[in-house]
Amino acid sequence: MAPDNYPYIRTGLPGPQAIQYIEKEKKFISPSLTKGYPLVVKSAKGMTVEDVDGNIFLDFTAGIAVCSTGHNHNQIISSITDQANTLIHMSGADFYNPLQILLAEKLSAICPGPGTKKTFFGNSGAESVEAAFKLARYHTKRNVVIAFYNAFHGRTMGALSLTASKLNHRKRFLPLIPEVIHVPYAYCYRCHYNLTPDNCNAACVAWIREELFKTKVPPEDVAAIFVEIVQGEGGYIVPPREFHAALYQLTRDYNILYVADEVQSGMGRTGKMFACEHFGVVPDIITIAKGIASGLPLSATVASEEIMDWVSGSHASTFGGNPISCHAALTTIQLLEDGLVENAARQGAYILNQLKRLEHTYPVIGDVRGLGLMLAVEIVKDKGTKEFAPEERDRIIQKAFSKGLLLLGCGRSAIRFCPPLILSRNDADIALSIFEICLKEL
Ligand SMILES: Cc1ncc(COP(=O)(O)O)c(C=O)c1O
Repeated sequence: MAPDNYPYIRTGLPGPQAIQYIEKEKKFISPSLTKGYPLVVKSAKGMTVEDVDGNIFLDFTAGIAVCSTGHNHNQIISSITDQANTLIHMSGADFYNPLQILLAEKLSAICPGPGTKKTFFGNSGAESVEAAFKLARYHTKRNVVIAFYNAFHGRTMGALSLTASKLNHRKRFLPLIPEVIHVPYAYCYRCHYNLTPDNCNAACVAWIREELFKTKVPPEDVAAIFVEIVQGEGGYIVPPREFHAALYQLTRDYNILYVADEVQSGMGRTGKMFACEHFGVVPDIITIAKGIASGLPLSATVASEEIMDWVSGSHASTFGGNPISCHAALTTIQLLEDGLVENAARQGAYILNQLKRLEHTYPVIGDVRGLGLMLAVEIVKDKGTKEFAPEERDRIIQKAFSKGLLLLGCGRSAIRFCPPLILSRNDADIALSIFEICLKEL
């Protein structure tokens, strides 16, 4: 059961048990992982996470935007245990699996666009992007793919080729897949062209059409444009509606696939089932993972039946679409449809307003942005110069941790708020008041 009083910090952080585990991790676990602060998790329920020393935190990370239905939701636990008692694995690659089929049918119904859609199941966001990359080349028989600066699509070689958000992701891993071209995203707070959304006429898309396609890249060689509808790891950057509209039109004009990476923005997080629904675009391929199965590993690459035309053997996965994950996903979608998507919209609008209030009071807040419960504040050294302030950002996150609020960074100097979608007004207020204390202390 979730405790009544939280956050509740009873030891120094990290506590004595946590210190021991962290020492052992250093010995046995790959040092390539990024750890923001020393949280060693023992258990979690709803909105709270308990560490191995009995400290209880309010979770505004949802395990990196994954635990959409909150931690260990009772219906998710029942789905997992029922399924574990029935069938754990038989591989959807070689055998038919009823739960995969039912989930694919459900995804066909909830993914935007008319007609029947087909799904390829994998286990992670990166795998869903790999599948989309391969499918785009397969279907179009074209080579070039366009992606965006600040994009994060995963870390396997194909997905990494599309990723361009931090140097460490790419350093010493080159060469990657050739023929991936990166172009500026509509990061309007820091517009590449020094324009503003009201006067830019979607200049970032115009540049692709007028410069890139006239000087370097023949549009008829372009298989796909991969785009996060709201950029995630790159800084929770919400582009204006015109950006996606113009980009979509560009893809229609040149028969290019518009691939929406909704790994982070999908499954209700932005207050609609998929973020593309805010922008009125219907992607040719959608990649989904994170929030789909309430914490179990599962990803989906969804495309219309016309596009998903690859033949038997061209792509498959031993573990993809595991029955337990699929069962958890069906229950997750039910819970999302029964009110959690709506709750994300409602609570998100409330927090966005409150954060905007803080923006006026605290000079370190340069920008506040977001959709639903995909929200961020960008921390700057000076509102005028907009100089990035990564140290200040990290200090705020550390302070929040020490007070029992779990937050994550994103982009070069932003803090993201991506709580489970079960968030209540009371929990939002607790988080906001802790966050404000951290800003004051800075
Ligand atoms: C938009 C997006 N695509 C892909 C990925 C990769 O997902 P995973 O870490 O599950 O491979 C992420 C992860 O943060 C993401 O945010």
